[in-house]
Amino acid sequence: MERTYLMVKPDGVQRGLVGQIISRFEQRGYKIVGLKMMQITRELAEKHYGEHAGKPFFQGLVDFITSGPVVAMAVEGKDVVATAREMMGATNPLKAAPGTIRATYGVDVGRNVIHGSDSPASAEREIALFFRPEELVDYGRAIDAWIYE
Ligand code: GTP
Ligand code: MG
Repeated sequence: MERTYLMVKPDGVQRGLVGQIISRFEQRGYKIVGLKMMQITRELAEKHYGEHAGKPFFQGLVDFITSGPVVAMAVEGKDVVATAREMMGATNPLKAAPGTIRATYGVDVGRNVIHGSDSPASAEREIALFFRPEELVDYGRAIDAWIYE
C-alpha cells in the first residue's frame, strides 16, 4: 500500500494543532505507520527542501522549519500521496480550498502548518530521510475491512 511523508511544521506544533491534524488522516481511514516529534537540524532541512535551494525564500524556509519541534509522520493507505495533498490544500493558505487543513488553520505561505510529499518518489525519499527502517511499523487493523472493499 502507498505511503507518504507528512509533517506538522513548527507553527502547527506551537499552535497546538498536532492532534487535530493527525485526526483528519486517521478519520479518513489512513494508517499511521511512523510517528515522532523531533527537532530538525539545518543539514536535514537543507536536504529535505533541496529542490528549493537558491530560491529567494530558501533561507527563510530553513530558518522556519528548524525554529522549533515538528511532528513527523509516515502514513499509509490508498492513493495517500495525492489525497493527503488535497486534504492539505494549496501551498498558499489564502488560495487553499475551504475545509482543507491550510485553509482552516493558515493565512501565510511561510506558515502553512503542514508538509506533505508531492509524489510517490518524494514520499519514498522523505520517509527514508526522516525515519530509520526500524521506526516504521508494519501492522494490520481489524477496521481495514470497513475502509477498503
Ligand atoms: P511543502 O509540503 O512544505 O513542501 O509545501 P508545498 O509542496 O505545498 O510547496 P513547495 O514544496 O513548493 O514549497 C515548500 C515550502 O516553501 C512551502 O510550504 C512554503 O512554506 C514555502 N514557499 C514556497 N513558495 C514560497 C514563496 O513563494 N514564498 C515564501 N515565502 N515561501 C514559499
Ligand atoms: Mg513541497
